[in-house]
Amino acid sequence: MKNPPARFRIETPTKNGSSEMTTPGNTQSTDKTAGDLSITDKRTNKNYDLSIKDGAIRAADLRQIKTADRDDVGLLSYDPAFMNTASCRSSITYIDGDKGILRYRGYPIEQLAEKASFLEVAWLLRHGELPNQKEYDGFVHDITYHTYVHENIRNFLQGFRYDAHPMSMLQSSVAALSSFYPEARNIFDPEQRNIAVIRLLAKTPTIAAFSYRHSKGLPVVYPDNSLSYVENFLSMINRMTEPRYEANPTFVRALEILFILHADHEQNCSTSSVRMVGSSHVDPFSAMSAGVAALFGPLHGGANEQVLRMIEEIGTIQNVPAFIETVKSGSGKLMGFGHRVYKSYDPRAKIVKQLADSVFKITGVDRGLEIALELERIALQDDYFVSRKLYPNVDFYTGLIYRSMGFPTEFFTVLFAIARMAGWLSQWEEMLLDKEQKIARPRQIFTGHGERQFKQTINVGIK
Ligand code: SDX
Repeated sequence: MKNPPARFRIETPTKNGSSEMTTPGNTQSTDKTAGDLSITDKRTNKNYDLSIKDGAIRAADLRQIKTADRDDVGLLSYDPAFMNTASCRSSITYIDGDKGILRYRGYPIEQLAEKASFLEVAWLLRHGELPNQKEYDGFVHDITYHTYVHENIRNFLQGFRYDAHPMSMLQSSVAALSSFYPEARNIFDPEQRNIAVIRLLAKTPTIAAFSYRHSKGLPVVYPDNSLSYVENFLSMINRMTEPRYEANPTFVRALEILFILHADHEQNCSTSSVRMVGSSHVDPFSAMSAGVAALFGPLHGGANEQVLRMIEEIGTIQNVPAFIETVKSGSGKLMGFGHRVYKSYDPRAKIVKQLADSVFKITGVDRGLEIALELERIALQDDYFVSRKLYPNVDFYTGLIYRSMGFPTEFFTVLFAIARMAGWLSQWEEMLLDKEQKIARPRQIFTGHGERQFKQTINVGIK
């Protein structure tokens, strides 16, 4: 047997050579928003000065604002769905929703999509700087030599029905990986964090491909270490009897760009889920499975699948105006439109739309494109959507590309998850190393009964 490859390099995230990982806020940004907020509590006529830092007040500073009632524990901030709450300080991804700006560690997404590789971006997201050649080659080597999963995971996947949703299979398998690597629970050991990051980035495509082959009733295709990250993924999806799979280079580059576009997006629902679950100090495999679960939702990563189903339901371009009217009447959403942060065109959607042209040159134009373009044309000029600042988001066109590359509709969100694993892992590690963070435990405004006495009125079998 050839010398087994070096297991992995210990590349703990560093910035400027220090052992400390890039902790949030350590770039020298001048805070133009700093100042004080004076509050008068009209209930007591007391005044309070709260400090404003980085455009925010500390919610904990509200606790000092109390009435004369001795039981008053002080003010809470009430923010269902965290519409206006910063949960952390992060230096990974910057979004400007009004200007349609997205940057990973300061690099515009347009430049990364055009010139970078996905693994280069995965390194950047985690370490804060682009890798040098030695770092990059070592990272690619480590990822390549960790793409296999334990045979028990392959057998585990065989236990699912043929028509099981691949996101269910991915969610369960990522969680199951935690039972194969109990040492990953040592989350404050940089070596354990490093190998867990490598294993998750390396094995997620393998699990995804195995679940695809299971749904087709095909034998799995094992990783081919002579191929790049994306080529290997496409080989595990498509290879049949040929000894070595030759992926279409246009598809390889298109998928690489789509993975880059989906890699991170600051504190979205799935990333916040990873941070919250990770804050209990559970192992990273369990924390990432929470991210997969949240991404599965149709309002989040599941939207790319729903866009295709919506387009299929519309059926023809003639039906578009009537469909738009049903959306405006409130009986449904225009899937792939709208965003909590972007109140202008999602910069990723622009890139995806351009990318579609290069893929369709190979595959022919996807039958749904005409309907998608008409939906966009009408929505962008209709006051219902314009007044609500609803524009195409990253999910609106991606499904058309994935379908034209041969992926089944229910597999689209799995492709999103493969890419977002890089962001989840980077955000998880940033949370762990952030000295301000602790176990996440929000409060509530209680709206239930006051105390009342229990009276047993039914037979519940208690003697
Ligand atoms: C992703 O957060 C991220 O960064 C996520 C993501 C990432 O990279 O991680 O960018 C990936 O999840 C993209 C979003 C994919 N989801 C969809 O495309 C599903 C359709 N979109 C909507 O469900 C919605 O736009 C959300 C969930 C994306 C955002 O919802 P918000 O910010 O909570 O906005 P809202 O639901 O309060 O909507 C405000 C108004 C409402 O109308 P009114 O009650 O004021 O009359 O806009 C309407 C909504 O009904 N509206 C829509 C709509 N989205 C919002 N109406 C029709 N179609 C839509 N798509």
